Amino acid sequence: MSTQSRKMAPVGVFDSGVGGLTVAREISRQLPDENIVYFGDTARVPYGSKSRNTIIRFSEQIIRFLKTKQVKAIVIACNTASALALDAVRDEFDIPIMGVVVPGARAAVEATRNRKVGVVGTDATVQSGMYTRVIHGMDPDITVIEKACPLFVPLVEEGFKEHKVTQEIIEYYLESMRNTDIDAMILGCTHYPLLRSKIRAYMGEKIQIVNPAYETAMDLKKLLSEKDMANEGGEGRHSRYSFYVSDAAEKFRRFANTVMPFDVPTTNVVNIEEY
Ligand code: DGL
Repeated sequence: MSTQSRKMAPVGVFDSGVGGLTVAREISRQLPDENIVYFGDTARVPYGSKSRNTIIRFSEQIIRFLKTKQVKAIVIACNTASALALDAVRDEFDIPIMGVVVPGARAAVEATRNRKVGVVGTDATVQSGMYTRVIHGMDPDITVIEKACPLFVPLVEEGFKEHKVTQEIIEYYLESMRNTDIDAMILGCTHYPLLRSKIRAYMGEKIQIVNPAYETAMDLKKLLSEKDMANEGGEGRHSRYSFYVSDAAEKFRRFANTVMPFDVPTTNVVNIEEY
């Protein structure tokens, strides 16, 4: 591939479903010239309750699919897949692959003043202890408190953002976290930024809420420029996004239209087990 066509090649972004759209949205804001191929594994979501081996196998299949779209780099937008599969797939494929855990952890390390950080995520992410390990790799003196909040994902997917049960479940999960003296909290799951204002209101102004999506887009920008792969084209921004899912394309499309800052006209279904 020539340098020019490599620059114009899309970035592959994947998630277990719709949640990674929060990362794609952030990339579209910060890197408006980049083309994106998004894959949401809607047939096999949630990843948050699955084993490491399964999450690695799913991630490998998706990366093989994205490579057929000639992507120049891959962003694992899913926290669960970043925590459990990134190390394995990075060694296996000859393409730059980044996840959301390291950028999110770094942002929290920079944000905390009292060196006490909270992390909320899926069961698999919290059980992996990856956020704690990565944060301790950056600063071993930081106290990290992790908490799984598995019901947040279905609440977001069902469009229950404003429902009173969501408020009750936020209180149920986060009460113990609010009673600690953390001063920064990572939203370590793709769906949680969609509940951000409610979480922020409950946790109070003293706690800085870290959304790894923002930092991930910044890291992607850095990676593309370091590797001389950034697209400087600037040819009309919204037409260069394509969306693929493993099931329920129409439901995905409707959800995508509530998250992305532009119209998502089509979503294509892929038989991901073939990859
Ligand atoms: N995308 C997942 C994450 O960020 C949440 C949904 C799931 O469990 O698959 O951890």
